Amino acid sequence: QNPDKTKLYEAYELTGKLYQYILKNTEQGKQAMQYLRSRGLNDKLIETFGIGYAPAPWDTLTQLLERRQFPLPLMERGGLLSVRQDGQGYFDKFRDRIIFPIHDWKGRLIAFGGRAMGDAQPKYLNSPESMLFHKSRSLYNIHLARPQIRKKQQIVLFEGYMDVIKAWETGVINGVATMGTALTEEHAEVIRKQADQVIVAYDGDSAGQNAAYKSIPILEKAGCLVKIALLPNSQDPDEYITTNGSERFVRDVIEAAVPSIKYKLIHFRKNFKLQEDGDKLRYIQQALKVIADIPSPVEREHYVRELSTEFRLTFEAALQDLNEIRLQSE
Ligand code: CTP
Ligand code: MN
Ligand code: MN
Ligand code: MN
Ligand code: MN
Repeated sequence: QNPDKTKLYEAYELTGKLYQYILKNTEQGKQAMQYLRSRGLNDKLIETFGIGYAPAPWDTLTQLLERRQFPLPLMERGGLLSVRQDGQGYFDKFRDRIIFPIHDWKGRLIAFGGRAMGDAQPKYLNSPESMLFHKSRSLYNIHLARPQIRKKQQIVLFEGYMDVIKAWETGVINGVATMGTALTEEHAEVIRKQADQVIVAYDGDSAGQNAAYKSIPILEKAGCLVKIALLPNSQDPDEYITTNGSERFVRDVIEAAVPSIKYKLIHFRKNFKLQEDGDKLRYIQQALKVIADIPSPVEREHYVRELSTEFRLTFEAALQDLNEIRLQSE
């Protein structure tokens, strides 16, 4: 094992403990604790997820690492410290932020996500890529969720930290997050190794819904069975849970997640004015194209039937159009 890596793991572990301590036991942490309370997190959740607070001063962590004789240039490369403008020395990278520790599947601390409590930008500051942290394959909470993911053969994919944590409280303990970065093929491979089925529960706003749409081919290519959870009113899972409670979240969002095909139909439907004949016909053609891609004949028939019922077409006519589309694409 590379000695720099070992040192950096050690430094992250220590830093995580420091930030937890400051949140729970110091005057500096009080406001952060109030913030977490205002977002509905109790002591148990804070403990389970190892949440902490990086205080406002410039050098709290720098001084600790220096005292403990960690090599500061390495700490900078690892994303814990920043270089001062004048090039003389270092300062803490995370200041006055709520700290969400990010672990690898073995439970080793490898990065932090830091949320500003006020209007400071960016809203979230994350550790940079490092020898420990590879964004394109890291999933927040994979270490805690893994047993349930394997047991259920199902993983729930969220956008953010708060979604994972609030969902955990509702009993959805197989949730992970991509932390804002687009889902990669590497993420999909990691996911596929643990579970057959994925429920994508991204935010209900248009950014989240577009990201969900794009995640479908990536996950399916890796061999996952994909469902999409629908969040109403542009809410994210955290907001939905706060407004509607745990039971409704589990029943109406997670358990009601729709198969990817159904989602594609719902998703691009928004672009058509279905009261108008021209758009209606174009939508039907588009829908048939999506249905034509379904490998299973039984499933294809199911969706053709649904479409023909909705638009008062005869099943035969819809099927005939479908078969022509299938012939053209051969
Ligand atoms: N994110 C990030 N940097 C940002 C914004 C977002 O890294 N400037 C990541 C974070 O991991 C965040 C996720 O993308 O959790 C989803 O972003 P968003 O929906 O904007 O944030 P929320 O998770 O809803 O955060 P909050 O509820 O705390 O406002
Ligand atoms: Mn399996
Ligand atoms: Mn979002
Ligand atoms: Mn969100
Ligand atoms: Mn949110």
